[in-house]
Amino acid sequence: MAGLKILVTGGAGFIGSSLCERLIGEGNSVLAYDSLFRGSESNLFTLQGHPNFQFMQGDVRDVDRLDEAIEHLGGVEVIYHLAAVNGTKWFHEAAHSVIDVNINGTLRTLELAMAHDARYVLASSPEAFGEALRQPIQNGNEMTFTDPSLHQRHSYGASKYLDEVACQHAARDGLDVRVVRPFNVYGPRLLGDEYGQVVAIFFQAILSNGTVQLHNGGNQTRSFTWIDDAVEGFILAGLQENSLNGASLSGCALNIGATEEITIRDLQETIFSMVSNDASWKNELPEVEIVEGYHGDAIRRLPDCSQAEAFVGWKPKVSLEQGLLQMWSTLR
Ligand SMILES: NC(=O)c1ccc[n+]([C@@H]2O[C@H](COP(=O)([O-])OP(=O)(O)OC[C@H]3O[C@@H](n4cnc5c(N)ncnc54)[C@H](O)[C@@H]3O)[C@@H](O)[C@H]2O)c1
Repeated sequence: MAGLKILVTGGAGFIGSSLCERLIGEGNSVLAYDSLFRGSESNLFTLQGHPNFQFMQGDVRDVDRLDEAIEHLGGVEVIYHLAAVNGTKWFHEAAHSVIDVNINGTLRTLELAMAHDARYVLASSPEAFGEALRQPIQNGNEMTFTDPSLHQRHSYGASKYLDEVACQHAARDGLDVRVVRPFNVYGPRLLGDEYGQVVAIFFQAILSNGTVQLHNGGNQTRSFTWIDDAVEGFILAGLQENSLNGASLSGCALNIGATEEITIRDLQETIFSMVSNDASWKNELPEVEIVEGYHGDAIRRLPDCSQAEAFVGWKPKVSLEQGLLQMWSTLR
């Protein structure tokens, strides 16, 4: 499907900006809507001046501003809702905002989709499963959240869980809704500051000769998904009319993640050995420090992507080694 009018909330963020590039490349008209709380217009530099692309700064909870955005776009056929407060440090430090933006942003954009009868694609998260006891993570598993008096980590995961509840309710009411759960996406625009995410934080420490911190000994595992693979998942889940078997995709919740599982300690060692094999990089590698880390951090986060493959034909293509090399070559 091409030539659609598409609103991308969170469009100036890490995943949103790459998604906008793909959507424009495929001949759609796109409006990226973002408060710039964490994203940046510089992420959209390749699209600046493109006749089918617009950027608008605005808060996803501001319905009047959202209406203005739709007016600028000349209507809307698909809403990709990616705006959210992401970044683990925020979940603990700004739980109120995380909950407010994630839940109210989703409710307001769902209402917008209903008003325009637009297809709605939610960026959820494996964190919607909380401290998932059962792995791999798949639909039907329990969603497990600890007592909120202990820590506020799940301001993010629990609000993503409620976002999914609202989406399933809207789907039951007849809206075409699809849920995408990306697993630890990484790539060149990922933030590497203290509010950023692990792969970029490690590279940032190497580039600035800082210190690498391993939380809780680095024994937790993750499955890292290359940005282009993740974007392909959003495209297939959002733009395919029906499932490959002809059934409706409305109400589907698809895990989009690599199935190569690695501990954070092994990730750090893999990145260090890759950088030390780079003859053009002469600097010392950073010190590694073991720190207590954040409460509520999941021990494993491994996706079962069989539904993404069966429904929309999605499979990850880029190995962790290939992705890390590509990211390093862009950053250094
Ligand atoms: N990156 C990942 O590995 C990952 C994993 C699971 C889920 N997700 C989800 O995918 C989506 C995109 O994530 P990302 O990694 O690109 O994060 P990101 O922080 O780079 O992008 C989110 C964007 O939302 C914007 N935003 C925040 N509050 C807003 C508000 N009130 N109004 C309008 N815009 C606002 C930010 O400025 C940012 O540009 C998010 O919903 C995130 O929860 C990401």
